[in-house]
Amino acid sequence: MLADTPGARTEGASFYAASVAQRWLERAANEEVGRHGGSKSAILAGYRRRLDAGEPLQYVLGSWQFRWLELHVDDRALIPRPETELIVDLILTELGDNRSGKVLELGTGSGAIAASLAFECPDLLVVATDSSADALALAEMNLVNHGLDDRVTLRLGDWWEAVDSDERFRLICSNPPYIAEDEWLKLDPVVRDWEPPGALVAGSTGLECYQVIFGKAHRYLEEGHGAIVVEIGASQGSDVQRIAVAAGFDDVSVKQDLVGRDRFVVARR
Ligand SMILES: C[S@@+](CC[C@H](N)C(=O)[O-])C[C@H]1O[C@@H](n2cnc3c(N)ncnc32)[C@H](O)[C@@H]1O
Repeated sequence: MLADTPGARTEGASFYAASVAQRWLERAANEEVGRHGGSKSAILAGYRRRLDAGEPLQYVLGSWQFRWLELHVDDRALIPRPETELIVDLILTELGDNRSGKVLELGTGSGAIAASLAFECPDLLVVATDSSADALALAEMNLVNHGLDDRVTLRLGDWWEAVDSDERFRLICSNPPYIAEDEWLKLDPVVRDWEPPGALVAGSTGLECYQVIFGKAHRYLEEGHGAIVVEIGASQGSDVQRIAVAAGFDDVSVKQDLVGRDRFVVARR
């Protein structure tokens, strides 16, 4: 029996993943035929060639689910990861019952976090920034597609340069680049060769973006309260906690993802 064979679990899991992927590819091909006509088998053959060249499935499909929203994804921005969905839960917890006011997201990429917050909190206003104009064009497309562009303002700029000095937010969130330069070389080629390096690589330690973000977060939070929620690499919990404490946050905790790895830091003041 398959289940008795060593490695059968892995084989079973990859067989399942392959059949799910095939169904997604079929659906994308059907949609493409519906939009532009043409031959479904030729479209599927094109998808297969792209996958064989190593391109991520999500870019080939052109869309990917993030929480409640189907988002357009392409090589202008990082593919939103399943674990990143949890940062939205942490943000909702921090906002509590009052899900109104203004939230800032630094480094929005495809707009996944900002769009989800606006979609799930109809009274919330979100300012979402990125240093990549290409990523912001993709985010804009996703916001317009979901009718959220009236409550999410996109800004181009390097971290705090995109924020006006007199703006104040209830909460600041970010999933910044956190890979160290030498780790980037060791990444799976499906990530390293296809996703934008500027969305992944922080600098020589991987902690550089946290230094900049926490360094000025205080002055952009509403007087007397406010929180910052960031995604981190699994080995960065204590380092980012230290950065947050040094920046003046006194209630700082590391939170785990669904497989128990350190994945987020929540800092309140
Ligand atoms: C890890 S990706 C996260 C994207 C998206 N928020 C998500 O979670 O899927 C980091 C994002 O930060 C942006 N970024 C990198 N350096 C930046 C900078 N100096 N200022 C603003 N954004 C930056 C990248 O372009 C990228 O979109």
